[in-house]
Amino acid sequence: MRSFAGRDILSLKDFERNEFFRVFEVAAELEPIARNRRNVDLLKEKTLVTAFYQPSTRTRLAHEAAMHRLGGHVTGFSDAKMTRAGDFYQESIKDTVKMLEFYGDVIVMRHFQQGAPHEAAKWASIPVINGGDGWGEHPTQILTDLYTVLREKGRIDGLSWVAVGDMRMRTMHSLAYALSQFDCEITFVSPPDMSLTNEFKEELKLYNLNFSEAEHVEQVIHKADIVLVEPVVQPDYTKSRHEVEEHGLTPDNYKITRELLANKAKSDMILLHSLPRMDEIPLDVDITRHSRYWQEAFNGVVMRMALLALVLGKME
Ligand code: CP
Repeated sequence: MRSFAGRDILSLKDFERNEFFRVFEVAAELEPIARNRRNVDLLKEKTLVTAFYQPSTRTRLAHEAAMHRLGGHVTGFSDAKMTRAGDFYQESIKDTVKMLEFYGDVIVMRHFQQGAPHEAAKWASIPVINGGDGWGEHPTQILTDLYTVLREKGRIDGLSWVAVGDMRMRTMHSLAYALSQFDCEITFVSPPDMSLTNEFKEELKLYNLNFSEAEHVEQVIHKADIVLVEPVVQPDYTKSRHEVEEHGLTPDNYKITRELLANKAKSDMILLHSLPRMDEIPLDVDITRHSRYWQEAFNGVVMRMALLALVLGKME
């Protein structure tokens, strides 16, 4: 297996099956630290630099919390407008990371441009973690989701997935690449104008992913062991910020209601959502036995602890 030390985490396209399991092993080893709300000194000599060019609650703070749990330090920015990259100068990715690499030992970057973290990794002498790039990928979120499935179901192989939402979403791309390393089938349910592109479908066929598409979640939810949901009422992920006063409602085809769960879902199906949500999962679903998104949020810290420990060479 390739070493994780010094490695960038940019895409799940280049993750091998045994590497997924190694990351999950390290996460399971470190999980008690987070569960017991302890801080240790594993990364006490290391600093994380956060470079967030787009809003985030979970990804940025989970990386920061992970660093604190492991005794490390954090610096960085959460609004590029207050840096030279977001003002008159529009400082380039190259010039920015050539500074950031002197301020810490690992960078986590979220950007509105697809491929921006890859560009950063080209120039940085320290590892770069992709915290979401435009419509591109969101590898650390899907590693979190797969780890959640492993903890909840005891396995990943042999499970049937339904993914509901906007298939342009970066999480969906990382999910599809990741599942190609497991014995899983997946059905994608999305509005026609948010469906998988033909180019991406051709790529998934080359990866031998067992996938299909459906129009309404009601048609396919009965076969799912895992339902992963993203909004279809979405901002434009190619913008640094997208504020709207009014937005539409989620059509029934892409909504997970208590009635749907009670009437059609398997008894032990689990429901994932990386959050934030709109109205695609109504609040009254939270107390059903299917919801796992708060567990997913906790695991988000655990997964980032594992990734930081690995890329910083403190776990092998
Ligand atoms: N799941 C996720 O990426 O959330 P944030 O946008 O809050 O980071």
